[in-house]
Amino acid sequence: MPSSPEEKGFGQGNPALHEWALGVFRPEDAVLSEIRQRSIREGLPAIAVGKFDGLHLEVLARAAGAQKAVEIGTLGGYSGVCLLRGMAPHGVLYTFEYSEKHARVANESFHKAGVAARVHVHVGAAIEKLPEIEAEAPFDLVFVDADKVSYPAYLAWAADHLREGGLLLADNAFGFGEIHLPGDDEGRKALRKFNEELAQGGRFRATMIPTAEGLALGVKVK
Ligand SMILES: C[S@@+](CC[C@H](N)C(=O)[O-])C[C@H]1O[C@@H](n2cnc3c(N)ncnc32)[C@H](O)[C@@H]1O
Repeated sequence: MPSSPEEKGFGQGNPALHEWALGVFRPEDAVLSEIRQRSIREGLPAIAVGKFDGLHLEVLARAAGAQKAVEIGTLGGYSGVCLLRGMAPHGVLYTFEYSEKHARVANESFHKAGVAARVHVHVGAAIEKLPEIEAEAPFDLVFVDADKVSYPAYLAWAADHLREGGLLLADNAFGFGEIHLPGDDEGRKALRKFNEELAQGGRFRATMIPTAEGLALGVKVK
């Protein structure tokens, strides 16, 4: 399965339209730009959410009035800062990251962004660490952006631990442009299962925000 392109397409792939939208909405300020650049300098892969994806996360967290949110896949903290910016002033984010190195970079990002007091970074395989926060459920928002083979398991966890009306968000739901293709790639098969369960499983009313990577969005209904 391929990976995310460094520059994520937007506006029908029209670069001039993309530039126009960046100029008007200004999705990435100096704090976020520093996180993106420092993460790459520290040797992290350049796979943070795109600039507009970050803004989508902030605005959706704000619309949901999120006070307790979960993120699976921290990387250098870029999307975590976006979520926290949209959350209520005392809102808390629980974020899960497999790599100790990524978590260290993220902790620095959270300090620099002034949100460190409102974030708990859990280091290890998310599926093993998620039970650590189950006593805090129900959550208002869950954002999934980690290993693709586990997306169905993360969706099942979210369905059981979100409040009714809570939001499920997942990046890369288009499977890097290959979700619709036949084949046995494990990541692609898992992403297909995730999308089908989200759209048809009865626990969410869901849509696909047609970003470059596909940002799946579901509201828990049951
Ligand atoms: C696409 S990046 C996350 C990007 C981040 N959400 C952002 O936009 O700033 C995926 C992250 O998930 C982490 N990861 C992969 N498998 C994981 C697992 N099983 N449990 C927790 N984290 C995992 C990777 O180490 C990587 O840092």
